[in-house]
Amino acid sequence: LWIVDEKMDIHNTCPQIKEAAMWITDNEVVAFPTETVYGLGANAYSDAAVEKIFKAKGRPSDNPLIIHISNKEQLQKLVKRVPPIAEELMEVFWPGPLTLVLEKGEGIAERVTAGLSTVAVRMPDHPVALSLLTEANTPVAAPSANVSGKPSPTTAAHVFEDLAGKIAGIVDGGATGVGVESTVLDLTTDIPMILRPGGVTREQIEEVIGSVAVDPALEENGQAPKSPGLKYKHYAPQAKLVLVDGNDEFIQTLVTKAKEEQKKVGVLTTNENAEKFHADVVLPCGTKDDLHTVAQHLYEVLRKFDQYDLDIIYSEIFPEKGVGKAIMNRLTKAAGGDILKSN
Ligand code: TXA
Ligand code: MG
Repeated sequence: LWIVDEKMDIHNTCPQIKEAAMWITDNEVVAFPTETVYGLGANAYSDAAVEKIFKAKGRPSDNPLIIHISNKEQLQKLVKRVPPIAEELMEVFWPGPLTLVLEKGEGIAERVTAGLSTVAVRMPDHPVALSLLTEANTPVAAPSANVSGKPSPTTAAHVFEDLAGKIAGIVDGGATGVGVESTVLDLTTDIPMILRPGGVTREQIEEVIGSVAVDPALEENGQAPKSPGLKYKHYAPQAKLVLVDGNDEFIQTLVTKAKEEQKKVGVLTTNENAEKFHADVVLPCGTKDDLHTVAQHLYEVLRKFDQYDLDIIYSEIFPEKGVGKAIMNRLTKAAGGDILKSN
């Protein structure tokens, strides 16, 4: 395995990025940091290269990938046309954590879109990612660089844990900033529709283009989500995760009861509340006053629980405003869909 972990000079393409880009143009797969999570990239015009992503991740073949670009000219070839609304959104949010779903153009590897007539594209807001994409000089298809089903990686070490020996290399650019994946917005419907909540909030999008729809499957259980990836169990730690809609006293009651049943218990909480719980492991993942900090550390904390061989983890819930929407979407999936209420 080949790892690049030196501090990067982002102004000159450093030798490590040049080398990583060469692997991409050779149709190998390379992990790299973005502002959201680490991605596992391959040349979007090569079926053989893209196939290696699915193989390394153990990803179901019906789950399409997001194509990453470093300049808007690359977009023209990837899509049939760029509607004015896309122009407006790109102007405001690119580079950044907003993925646009558009009618697909010619030449993209079949495997990228999993047979759909649409393609998902974004421009990541990370100097290492942009430098790599520029150097490789090709659009790069990249899902999150985790084994399918596990929490997405927010550090190079997470990628190493999951994919060492299965990929050509990892570009280490430090911990990612946003922590949850990009927002996926479908622009092929009459009213733009959010298929996956993420780093750019619904509120931010609506400020630019007016009201948008949200895939009903995100609000109700049982509906098939329009984004194929969202139907799979995801982000889950090894121990059973239970989301609790109740105060700290109620959560502690649950912990105490589980301890009486000889269970090894974890609690996922906030910095403010961490002291209030008596469990085997209490992990805070940010401050209640700024949900961005929770988003940033969520996957790291979900992964960390796996070190303790727990039977059950109780988690606080978060207000579904702003990035809280994405946090609750990921936590609910990790917990298998249910929230335990205190009354
Ligand atoms: O922040 C991110 O988006 C990260 C970084 C690496 O860029 N990438 C990421 O990729 O999260 P992935 O593969 O883990 O998630 C892509 C999501 C999946 O839910 C997939 O089903 C959806 O985007 N998707 C991709 N193409 C689509 C399409 N044409 N129509 C609808 N959904 C699509
Ligand atoms: Mg993923």
